[in-house]
Amino acid sequence: MIIVLDFGGQYNQLIARRVRECHVYAEVHPYTISIDKIKEINPKGIIFTGGPNSVYAGDSPRYSREIFDLGIPILGICYGSQLMSYLLDGAVETAPVSEYGKTEVDVDKNSVLFKDVSPRTICWMSHTDYISAAPEGFRVTAHTPVCPVAAMENPERRLYATQFHPEVMHTQEGMKMLSSFVYDVCGCEGTWKMDSFVEDSIKSIRERVGTGKVLCALSGGVDSSVAAVMLSKAIGRQLTCVFVDHGLLRKNEGDEVEAVFGPEGDYDLNFIRVNVQDRFYEKLAGVTEPEKKRKIIGEEFIRVFEEEAKKIGSVDFLVQGTIYPDVIESGLGKSAVIKSHHNVGGLPDYVDFKEIIEPLRLLFKDEVRKAGLELGIPEYLVFRQPFPGPGLGVRIVGEVTAEKVRIVQDADAIYREEVAKAGIDKDLGQYFAGLTNMRSVGVMGDERTYDHAVALRAVMTSDFMTAEAAEIPYKVLFKVTSRIINEVKGVNRVFYDLTSKPPGTIEFE
Ligand code: XMP
Repeated sequence: MIIVLDFGGQYNQLIARRVRECHVYAEVHPYTISIDKIKEINPKGIIFTGGPNSVYAGDSPRYSREIFDLGIPILGICYGSQLMSYLLDGAVETAPVSEYGKTEVDVDKNSVLFKDVSPRTICWMSHTDYISAAPEGFRVTAHTPVCPVAAMENPERRLYATQFHPEVMHTQEGMKMLSSFVYDVCGCEGTWKMDSFVEDSIKSIRERVGTGKVLCALSGGVDSSVAAVMLSKAIGRQLTCVFVDHGLLRKNEGDEVEAVFGPEGDYDLNFIRVNVQDRFYEKLAGVTEPEKKRKIIGEEFIRVFEEEAKKIGSVDFLVQGTIYPDVIESGLGKSAVIKSHHNVGGLPDYVDFKEIIEPLRLLFKDEVRKAGLELGIPEYLVFRQPFPGPGLGVRIVGEVTAEKVRIVQDADAIYREEVAKAGIDKDLGQYFAGLTNMRSVGVMGDERTYDHAVALRAVMTSDFMTAEAAEIPYKVLFKVTSRIINEVKGVNRVFYDLTSKPPGTIEFE
């Protein structure tokens, strides 16, 4: 295992993920982890992340020098490289010229990190401080015209540092550098695969849960389904899944979830479906503000869940299908709150449980899918599009009503059917129909109409943090538009959303 020591950088999980892409398991730990704990984990290597601070600031995150004496290889990145230099008595200063973005870097091919890299390579820089003099025993292995120590190393002590970020896509040969570090410097074998993660997780869940009872809120989406199946494989009927049908699901989805996870389905678990559609519509009546809607749906979901949990009685563990992007986008990490995803942070107050299990917390979406396939979950479920916890509630702009839900469900079903028929469904990251908050005048069969406008959205994305509008063929869009207008009562106009993320988000609210 490689430990990624987090000093507050934006890319800490990305570093771990890149290492996992080299088939080496990596975990992020905060810089406050004790040296004894590190010794106990006994990693093959340690990577110091970047961070927004200056090593000289009084309150900047640091680590004890002792870490360099453990004999474990260390790679410092950006702030992590400056920290290495600072702790080992090199010099760090404010750079006369800060570098930001794609930068040409000259590297020394004699360094093991750069042995497979072009002598001049494009790297991603983002710094205001820099190492002005490498510590004793180090040699400089890369530079730019304005950055004298873009990389340095002390191969005898197996200490390496780069001012640039090898983990980001814009560092064109960054993966080669990281894989040289994990294979050649740390001596990792690259035997880790998603199936090891799945097996290890099942094993550790089984050990942790023992004979305890576990409760899971199952939404039928990819994340909670993968979490539920993992738990079911680990502990079978000690697991109870509660599926709340809040009336904001896609067309027929409630029945589909029941078919897979219910008594007639494929898995060994207890399944409870709660039909509370009207209760949600009542709570949402008259509410238009997106965050308020989210909070209401999240709150009400938790209340329903608590009521069911009470019937079950005390449980030992609660499972959440939280995945890594939920954690950052909800502002639990360092980033600003964009949306309060209700599957993070919103915990039931009155459910009698002792601990939370979040088996997917470290994974990105595509990694969750890989885990799902390893678990033997059918492909149609694994590659199901992500669906937000608040469901159609955030796809209906403005007030939610049963009538509007019916319109979106029908329009969305037609859209999905036609996209699949055109054979482009697998190429799209996420696509769905939403309902705008406008009504407009139209004419149908010589009559004036004053009806709703449906908005179609389709994005290309791999991580759901950024996205581009997809180029759906006009032929498909015309077909969908004409079917929606003809078949869905109450709609007389259809739009296609071309906004990317940022500045837009994927959902409408
Ligand atoms: P946005 O709209 O934030 O969507 O660009 C990014 C991804 O997250 C999903 N999403 C949510 N998931 N609760 C969730 O569980 C939410 O409140 C929520 N809001 C958005 C969205 O479908 C997309 O995949």
